[in-house]
Amino acid sequence: MNYQYSPIFPLLTLALLLLSSPPCRATSHSSSSVNNFLQCIASKSALLLESVYTPSNPSFDLVLRALIRNRRFLTPQTPKPVAIVAPTRVSHVQATVVCARDTGVQIRIRSGGHDYEGLSYRSNVTFVILDMFNLRSIKVVVDKEFAYVQAGATLGELYYKIANQSNVHAFPAGVCTGLGTGGHFSGGGYGNLIRKYGLSVDNIVDALVVDVKGKILNRALMGEDLFWAIRGGGGASFGVIVAWKIKLVRVPAKVTVFNVPFTLEQGATDVAFKWQQVAPKLPDDLFIRLQPTVVNGTIVVKFIGMFLGESNRLVPLVNRSFPELNLMKSDCKEMSWLESILYWDNFPPGTPVEALLNRTQGARGYSKNKSDYIKTLIPKSGLETIWKLLIELANTTTANVIMQWNPYGGKMSEIPASSTPFPHRSGNLFLVQYIVFWDEEGQNVTDRNVDRVRYMHDRMSTFVSKEPREAFLNYRDNDIGSTASDETNFSDALVYGSKYFKDNFPRLTTVKAMVDPSNFFKNEQSIPPNIN
Ligand SMILES: Cc1cc2nc3c(=O)[nH]c(=O)nc-3n(C[C@H](O)[C@H](O)[C@H](O)COP(=O)(O)OP(=O)(O)OC[C@H]3O[C@@H](n4cnc5c(N)ncnc54)[C@H](O)[C@@H]3O)c2cc1C
Ligand SMILES: *[C@@H]1O[C@H](CO)[C@@H](O)[C@H](O)[C@H]1NC(C)=O
Ligand SMILES: *[C@@H]1O[C@H](CO)[C@@H](O)[C@H](O)[C@H]1NC(C)=O
Ligand SMILES: *[C@@H]1O[C@H](CO)[C@@H](O)[C@H](O)[C@H]1NC(C)=O
Ligand SMILES: *[C@@H]1O[C@H](CO)[C@@H](O)[C@H](O)[C@H]1NC(C)=O
Ligand SMILES: *[C@@H]1O[C@H](CO)[C@@H](O)[C@H](O)[C@H]1NC(C)=O
Ligand SMILES: *[C@@H]1O[C@H](CO)[C@@H](O)[C@H](O)[C@H]1NC(C)=O
Ligand SMILES: *[C@@H]1O[C@H](CO)[C@@H](O)[C@H](O)[C@H]1NC(C)=O
Ligand SMILES: *[C@@H]1O[C@H](CO)[C@@H](O)[C@H](O)[C@H]1NC(C)=O
Ligand SMILES: *[C@@H]1O[C@H](CO)[C@@H](O)[C@H](O)[C@H]1NC(C)=O
Repeated sequence: MNYQYSPIFPLLTLALLLLSSPPCRATSHSSSSVNNFLQCIASKSALLLESVYTPSNPSFDLVLRALIRNRRFLTPQTPKPVAIVAPTRVSHVQATVVCARDTGVQIRIRSGGHDYEGLSYRSNVTFVILDMFNLRSIKVVVDKEFAYVQAGATLGELYYKIANQSNVHAFPAGVCTGLGTGGHFSGGGYGNLIRKYGLSVDNIVDALVVDVKGKILNRALMGEDLFWAIRGGGGASFGVIVAWKIKLVRVPAKVTVFNVPFTLEQGATDVAFKWQQVAPKLPDDLFIRLQPTVVNGTIVVKFIGMFLGESNRLVPLVNRSFPELNLMKSDCKEMSWLESILYWDNFPPGTPVEALLNRTQGARGYSKNKSDYIKTLIPKSGLETIWKLLIELANTTTANVIMQWNPYGGKMSEIPASSTPFPHRSGNLFLVQYIVFWDEEGQNVTDRNVDRVRYMHDRMSTFVSKEPREAFLNYRDNDIGSTASDETNFSDALVYGSKYFKDNFPRLTTVKAMVDPSNFFKNEQSIPPNIN
C-alpha cells in the first residue's frame, strides 16, 4: 500500500526540488501552452508521461468516457480535454499541478466523475483532466476505528473494505456506490446514516491535499481554515485532495430495510403529510426517504427505510410514532449493513457484495436534477398540487420524473451551520431532489426534458426555502449561475455561493484568497478569491 501519511514524505520533496525546472512562461496561446505543459511533464518524470493520454492516444476516448455517467455530456458537441493525466503516485499529482500552473494550463480534477454538470471533465476553456482513478488505495484500521481512503476510490470499494474487516463498522456517505470520495466528500456527502451520524464531512479527521505550490499538506500543515473549507466547500476550488482520514462509525450486525408504496387510493397524501411531521423527529436510528413517482399516469409514493436495528424493535417503533405507514414485519428485510448498501443502490436481490468492486459502470442514460430545502410543512392541498405537477410533467413516454425527499433532523440539527461550509442544518425538515431521466437521443429531447425539471422547480417555489432559495452543492446545478464566461465578473458566484453556502460563503472566499490568490483551482462554479 503506497501510503505516505507521515506529514511529508522526505524523498518525494527532495525529488521535486531536484526536478523543478524554472517555470515556463505562461502564454495565452493555448496550443503552445499545452506543448509546454507536456514538455514540463516529460521533464519531471518519464513514468508520469506514461500516465498522460492525448487525443492521438488510442485509449484517450476510453479513459475519458470511463467516468462519464451522464450521456448529456457524451455528445459530439461536448468539448473534450486536450489531455488526461492519470497519476499513479502522489508525487505525480504534485508535478501535474506545478506544470499546469507554470504553463498557464487549466486543470479539471476528476475522481468518480459523478458531477451533475460534468464540471470534472467538461469545460469551454482549454483544459487538462487530472484524473485520480489510479489513486484509490484504502486502509482500514479497525481497532482504532478509522480508515485512510484515497480520492479515486469509490464508495463501493470503501464500504466493501470496511465490512471486510468488521461487520459492526460503517461510514456515513452516499447511496450510489460509484461515487468517488474526492468529489463526494468535499461536497458534503450524505446517505441514509445522515440522521444518526451527519454528513461524511462530519466524520473526516484529516486529509492530504496538494496545494497550488505543489506542496503536499496534511491537516497540521494546511491549518484549520483550509481543512474547514475542503469539508463541504468543494475540493476543486482549493487544491487536489489526495486522501482522507475518516472516522468509522458503529452499526449493528443486522440492519432493517423496507420499501412501502402507497397509491392515492391507499391514502398516499395523508401518509406523506404525516411523514413531514415525524420523519425529521424519529429516533436517529431510523431514516425514511419519501419518493413520489408516476406510474401509469398516477402517483405512487414510496417510503424507503433504513433502520439501525432489527425489525422486532422497528415495527413497534413505527406503529407508535408513524402508525399511518402501517409497517408490517413482512415489509421488513434484515441484513448486514453491507448488504443494505446493495439494496439501497438498487442492485438485483442476491447480487454478491463483490459487485461493489466493479468499476466499469459506464453511462446510464440522460438526466438533469435540481434541489431544494423545505423548512415548513407543505399542506395537504400543496401535496395534491405537487402530485398533479408530477403527473403533468410525466405526460410523455420519453421522460421519467421522480422526486426524492430526504429527512434531516437528528445529528443534522445538532451540528452548528458554521462548523463546516455545508450550511443546511437545523431548521430544515428535508432536502428535495428533482430528477428527470430519459434514454432517447437528440438535442430536442434533451432540451424538452431539461425544461421539465426547470418547470417543476419553478412551480415549487411557494413550498421551499427563500432568500436565498438554497441548493445542495453535491446536486450541482448550473442554472443557478456560472462564472465561466467572464473571469473578473463574480456576480454569478454571489448567487450560487449564497445558495450553496449561505453565511459560510464569505469565509470560503477568504480561505480561497489565502491559499490560491491567483485562482488556479477553478471551474465554472468554483469559489472566487475575496470578492468585495
Ligand atoms: C447516481 C448518483 C448518485 C448520487 N448519490 C448521492 C448521494 O447519495 N449523496 C450525495 O451526497 N451525493 C450524491 N450524488 C452527488 C455526488 O455526491 C456528487 O456528484 C459528487 O461531487 C461526486 O463526486 P465524484 O468524485 O464522483 O465526482 P467528480 O465529477 O469526479 O467530481 C465532482 C467535483 O469535485 C471535484 N473533485 C473531484 N475530485 C477531486 C479531488 N480529488 N480534489 C479536489 N476536487 C475534486 C471535481 O473537480 C468536481 O468539481 C450522486 C450523484 C450521482 C450521479
Ligand atoms: C440524478 O439523480 C439520479 C438518482 O440519484 C441519478 O441516477 C442521476 O445520475 C442524477 N443525474 C445527474 C445529472 O447526475
Ligand atoms: C459551454 O457553452 C455552451 C454554449 O453556451 C453551454 O451550453 C455549456 O453549458 C458551456 N459549458 C460549461 C461547462 O459551462
Ligand atoms: C475479505 O476479502 C477477501 C479478499 O477479497 C475475501 O477473500 C474474504 O472472503 C473477505 N472476507 C469477508 C469477511 O468479507
Ligand atoms: C401499467 O400499465 C401497463 C399496461 O396497462 C401494465 O402492463 C403495467 O403492469 C402497469 N404498471 C403498474 C406498475 O401498474
Ligand atoms: C399497532 O399497535 C396496535 C395497538 O397496540 C395493535 O393493535 C396493532 O396490531 C399494531 N400493529 C402492528 C403492525 O404491529
Ligand atoms: C461490471 O458491471 C458492468 C455493468 O453493469 C457489467 O457489464 C460487467 O459484466 C461487470 N463486471 C464484472 C466483472 O462483474
Ligand atoms: C406535457 O406538459 C407540458 C407542461 O405542461 C406541456 O408543455 C407539454 O405540451 C405536454 N406534452 C404533451 C405531449 O401533452
Ligand atoms: C427530435 O428530432 C428528431 C430529428 O429531427 C425527430 O426524428 C424526433 O422525432 C424528435 N423527437 C421529439 C421527441 O420531438
Ligand atoms: C456581470 O454579469 C452579470 C450577469 O452575468 C451582468 O448582469 C452584469 O452586468 C455584469 N457586470 C459587469 C460589470 O460586467
